[in-house]
Amino acid sequence: MIWTAVLLMAVVSHVNSVDYCYNEPHCDTYAWGDKFPSCHPLLEEHHSPINLDHQMTRNESLGPLHLEGFDEIQTGHWTLYNDGHSVVLQVGSGMSVSGGGLPDVYHTMQLHFHWGGPATNGSEHTVDRRRYPMEMHIVNMKSIHPNLSVALDDPTGLAVLGFFIDVVYADNVNFGHISQKLSSVAYNGQITKVKPFSLMSLLPKHNMSQYYRYYGSLTTPPCSQAVVWTLYEVPIYISWSQLAQFTSQIFSTEEDAEQVTPLQNNFRHIHPTFSRIVSVSKDGRLLTGTAGRPLRSAVSVLQIVLLGSFVSKL
Ligand SMILES: *[C@@H]1O[C@H](CO)[C@@H](O)[C@H](O)[C@H]1NC(C)=O
Ligand SMILES: *[C@@H]1O[C@H](CO)[C@@H](O)[C@H](O)[C@H]1NC(C)=O
Ligand SMILES: *[C@@H]1O[C@H](CO)[C@@H](O)[C@H](O)[C@H]1NC(C)=O
Ligand SMILES: *[C@@H]1O[C@H](CO)[C@@H](O)[C@H](O)[C@H]1NC(C)=O
Ligand SMILES: [Zn+2]
Repeated sequence: MIWTAVLLMAVVSHVNSVDYCYNEPHCDTYAWGDKFPSCHPLLEEHHSPINLDHQMTRNESLGPLHLEGFDEIQTGHWTLYNDGHSVVLQVGSGMSVSGGGLPDVYHTMQLHFHWGGPATNGSEHTVDRRRYPMEMHIVNMKSIHPNLSVALDDPTGLAVLGFFIDVVYADNVNFGHISQKLSSVAYNGQITKVKPFSLMSLLPKHNMSQYYRYYGSLTTPPCSQAVVWTLYEVPIYISWSQLAQFTSQIFSTEEDAEQVTPLQNNFRHIHPTFSRIVSVSKDGRLLTGTAGRPLRSAVSVLQIVLLGSFVSKL
């Protein structure tokens, strides 16, 4: 157990030494490409996140995923830590995801969150341009790979399950397993033990066969194009106060830092889909909003701006 903690500390401090951020111009999401070339928004590259809109294709063969072990309670303990960019829950081995058109079995490694600020939403993916308050990512690695560096060289090396998080008045009791522990990982580098619980209890009870599927990238450096994305249509609901614990009580700075900086708006900007197909599962709903056309031209303007800023750096 102690060795696990020591190893994790090493992981955490290693991650901290990597220089990227969300909110300062010299290291924000548009500047990531300066230090991490694979984060550059080149034409026809397949980055994440994206806006989910009307350009979708139904795929009748996409049924529900098989979430092995998600409804069991593991022995031992899990680890929750603040790596300065998010709050990460590292789970034990024994859970995996497969089916639903995934090309293989993927072992579940960790889950983490993206959020906004006191007055802004912070999901990474948007639905018809709407940004949800938060997004949770369950990260799974293809079981044939020995480690993450090998998985990141495989275009389908990771399967990430994305859940939008929306807000209601009532607390989500199951979410309390995480939110009650947040004060122990308020500062960058802090780490705490969490008693294992059923991961399924965090997820929407119904409608798990309704999802979107596309091929994309990590949304943090090195932005590797190695992810099969599954975005569930129906969100998880938490309370305003549970949301506020993320948006105002987590810091990107260490506890003894002279200046304390809240960790807010830790989401990457939206990327063009280019020629990619975004599929809707058999039971999913095709989006039927009205905002399609004007928004697509807004995306083209953004693409031009992005390319302009890239070319100017060459
Ligand atoms: C539908 O999904 C399956 C499983 O991922 C895939 O093999 C197939 O190519 C998809 N069909 C279309 C038309 O995209
Ligand atoms: C932010 O989230 C709230 C709560 O779900 C929603 O009502 C609002 O429309 C969202 N705002 C944006 C700009 O997407
Ligand atoms: C990952 O596994 C590969 C293949 O076994 C090995 O060569 C490499 O050193 C490993 N990388 C790390 C960071 O452990
Ligand atoms: C969830 O699934 C039920 C039953 O399949 C369906 O009636 C309902 O409309 C779905 N909810 C959403 C938000 O799609
Ligand atoms: Zn993420």
